[in-house]
Amino acid sequence: MAGAGENSHGCENNSDLEEDRCSENDFGTSELGTKEYWEETYQKELETFKDIGDVGEIWFGEESMSRVLQWMDEAKINENAAILDIGTGNGAFLVELAKHGYKNLTGMDYSPASVELARNVLEAEGLTDVSVKEMDFLNCEGQLKGFDVCIDKGTFDAISLNPDNTEDGKKMYVQCLKDALKDGGFFSITSCNWTKEQLLERFGEGFEFVQELPTPSFKFGGKTGNSVAALIFKTIH
Ligand SMILES: C[S@@+](CC[C@H](N)C(=O)[O-])C[C@H]1O[C@@H](n2cnc3c(N)ncnc32)[C@H](O)[C@@H]1O
Repeated sequence: MAGAGENSHGCENNSDLEEDRCSENDFGTSELGTKEYWEETYQKELETFKDIGDVGEIWFGEESMSRVLQWMDEAKINENAAILDIGTGNGAFLVELAKHGYKNLTGMDYSPASVELARNVLEAEGLTDVSVKEMDFLNCEGQLKGFDVCIDKGTFDAISLNPDNTEDGKKMYVQCLKDALKDGGFFSITSCNWTKEQLLERFGEGFEFVQELPTPSFKFGGKTGNSVAALIFKTIH
């Protein structure tokens, strides 16, 4: 995963070129896949927010939100569409979505400190009608359904790094996502741990690929690669 400014902070599988990246089978695990890690991280960010009003890290940078918002404009996503931010972190994307005019917003995260931070950040912006739920996306017991758009920025990456449930977790993620989305609903994913091809395979059943959003690319040794993949899918029967 990459943090602000799309550097490689936290990215466990950020080999420069797609052909050099790990296959599904040799994907490493990391503390970034644990709830403890995120709880500690957001505890610190919550304290900082209370002290100086800094919302903390915007994963993949501001532009990662702009490009999804631009796609939402182009796709004419209705302002009343039910939108879910999966693993909302500090809730910064919810703030941007609300500022963009979206009115039916839900965030969720399994870290209590993240949920408190996101609620504080939203409140400071006067956005009191955005709901932020504390729950595990992989164990949401049917509480998340009927969404027109689900957004994931770095959360599938984190789940993929969990040392305990790597393959099961990824499969459960896909099922929970299907349960959360309406028929014909959209899924936006931003990842630095998975290539476009790997994501197309992972979300190959029950979804159709809609488009790839442009992400920064770089040249190395005469070859061009992307360190971040941002894709849009749509559910199909
Ligand atoms: C890389 S951070 C990204 C946060 C936010 N989406 C952003 O772009 O700034 C990953 C987030 O996923 C959350 N997360 C990881 N596994 C989760 C799970 N099983 N259920 C809910 N949230 C989860 C973490 O607590 C963390 O907030």
